Amino acid sequence: MKRVVSRAGRALLPACAVLAGVSCTRPGGDPPVDVEALKDPSTCRRCHPSHYEEWSGSMHAYAAQDPVFLAMNRRGQEQTGGALGDFCVRCHAPLAVAAGLTRDGLNLHEVPQHLQGVTCYFCHNVVAVEGTHNNPLRLAGDGTLRGGIRNPVANDAHDSAYSPLHARGSAEAAALCGSCHDIVTPAGVELERTFAEWRHSLYARPSTVGGLTCQACHMDGADGPAAAGAGMPVRRVHSHQFPGVDLALTEFPHRDDQRERVQRLLDTTALAELCVSNDQTLVALQVTLENVAAGHAFPSGAAQDRRIWVEVRARRGGAEVYRTGVLPDDRDIVRSSDADLWLLRDELFDADGVPTHAFWGARRVQTEHLPAPTARSPAEPGWTQTHRTRVFSYTGAPPDEVELRVHIMPVGVDVLDELVAEGYLDPTLRDAVTPMSLAAAHLTWRAADGVRCVGSAPAGRAP
Ligand code: HEC
Ligand code: HEC
Ligand code: HEC
Ligand code: HEC
Ligand code: HEC
Repeated sequence: MKRVVSRAGRALLPACAVLAGVSCTRPGGDPPVDVEALKDPSTCRRCHPSHYEEWSGSMHAYAAQDPVFLAMNRRGQEQTGGALGDFCVRCHAPLAVAAGLTRDGLNLHEVPQHLQGVTCYFCHNVVAVEGTHNNPLRLAGDGTLRGGIRNPVANDAHDSAYSPLHARGSAEAAALCGSCHDIVTPAGVELERTFAEWRHSLYARPSTVGGLTCQACHMDGADGPAAAGAGMPVRRVHSHQFPGVDLALTEFPHRDDQRERVQRLLDTTALAELCVSNDQTLVALQVTLENVAAGHAFPSGAAQDRRIWVEVRARRGGAEVYRTGVLPDDRDIVRSSDADLWLLRDELFDADGVPTHAFWGARRVQTEHLPAPTARSPAEPGWTQTHRTRVFSYTGAPPDEVELRVHIMPVGVDVLDELVAEGYLDPTLRDAVTPMSLAAAHLTWRAADGVRCVGSAPAGRAP
């Protein structure tokens, strides 16, 4: 369905009649829309101040400023002799590529700031999704901004139209996000698979049977006006902070707020169960983690750089008798000498089977993650397990207390160290990456309670 509303509100007249007090017609007709001005997010600020503020602290706004992005892109261009081309920037600064202002992202410092990142106009001018990965979004290039409002009030700056690609309740909406959140490298490696994971999950079903789009989980709704000004109707408006896992590493608007949002999302992402048993002198600490809230795997997306790990500490009489997953002083969990370490992430291997962080050179991905549910319950056909279990064991006396925690670093310091060592990244940024922990997966088992397991048993575990 396509219903463009001209700024003079012509097509809107019937809707206006029901919205008492809203002025829909303007004397003087439509001046031409200034499309170039619409490409600048600061143009939107006057009338959509909260959308602007939220977006300006999001990773979408940060996408082309992210020093890790700039460093990796530079490294990739140098390692491939420029063959990477616009592969990276076409997602991280799509309007700059479309305007012909950059071909490789190496000159982003010369590109006007407002064309960098994933911007308002880029998302709101999309008219078609022509694929499933690597940003196949087609923009109209016109002065119409598309969204989820069916009867938008006319305004001076742009035409408006309802679009099922934007409205969270519509089946197509996930493709707007997902086709940019799925990366297939030039070598054909399916590197980031958030959209594919979602498409195979329960959440891709119609909303009546458990479906939820990306927007439904990542853009919280609230009631309020969609635009500033007298007499604007109350709408369902949607947060543009887009919390996920990652955070800005350098000075950026609303950093504390973003961290709080991300923390809140992570806190309920995974549930855990901890069971303690012992057979004479062999003590078994069994940990199960289950993905209960992510609409895709956990971790997803840039899982080759994410580091999620499980910390278990067993004590007896106050003294520690077993530990794994304790972050070393240099905060490098991957290279810690912990034989039992349970790490959730993607690991990349090059053509010679050697582990690599240079994802343009990767030929194989090895994945350890918590998958998304594929059915509503284990009783339904097509159910696949959303949990993973590990048993940590040691020989010795049984513990009287065991503590479980799950931590995440958005980017492993092993990844950053490599970029620093090769001169692509400012060494001080290493300290800007700090771990976060998942509240719902923090459990303590006590022998005195007389139970074998604490926490929640996962759905669908074989009895
Ligand atoms: C002069 C004020 C003004 C400016 C500037 C402005 N808008 Fe709007 N916009 C509005 C009004 C008014 C509405 C309708 C709100 C309603 O109906 O509740 C609207 C609606 C929208 C919608 C919803 C369309 C729909 O049908 O779902 C989107 C998306 C949007 N604007 C994006 C933007 C973006 C992006 C910018 C900056 C490039 C921008 N606007 C600049 C006033 C403005
Ligand atoms: C033009 C491509 C593009 C589109 C379209 C897009 N994104 Fe993104 N998104 C990105 C990029 C690039 C980043 C990461 C920026 C960075 O970290 O440097 C990102 C980051 C995110 C994050 C934060 C991830 C994290 O780990 O912190 C979330 C959540 C997100 N996007 C959700 C969405 C949703 C929901 C939509 C659809 C409404 C969407 N995206 C549409 C490219 C896109
Ligand atoms: C990553 C894509 C993306 C970016 C970037 C983005 N938006 Fe949106 N926006 C959406 C989607 C999707 C919706 C519709 C949500 C729904 O209806 O379910 C939306 C809705 C809106 C609406 C309608 C009211 C509402 O909250 O639903 C306005 C107005 C709006 N956006 C303005 C902006 C402005 C201004 C910017 C930049 C400062 C911006 N958007 C950046 C994806 C984006
Ligand atoms: C059922 C709710 C839900 C749905 C649906 C959903 N997400 Fe998420 N998403 C989450 C939660 C919770 C997290 C935090 C845990 C994690 O990282 O997986 C998250 C994290 C992310 C991240 C950061 C992942 C990482 O580990 O780096 C990205 C990017 C993202 N989502 C994008 C999307 C996109 C794109 C879609 C649609 C194709 C989508 N999400 C659908 C709940 C959801
Ligand atoms: C198809 C679109 C797309 C392409 C192509 C793409 N990215 Fe991204 N990038 C994303 C999205 C989406 C995210 C957010 C994923 C998440 O949070 O899980 C992201 C996140 C990132 C991040 C932040 C998370 C992290 O890994 O630290 C960096 C850095 C990054 N990309 C670098 C690059 C580089 C370098 C290239 C080219 C070699 C590239 N990207 C190509 C879409 C893309």
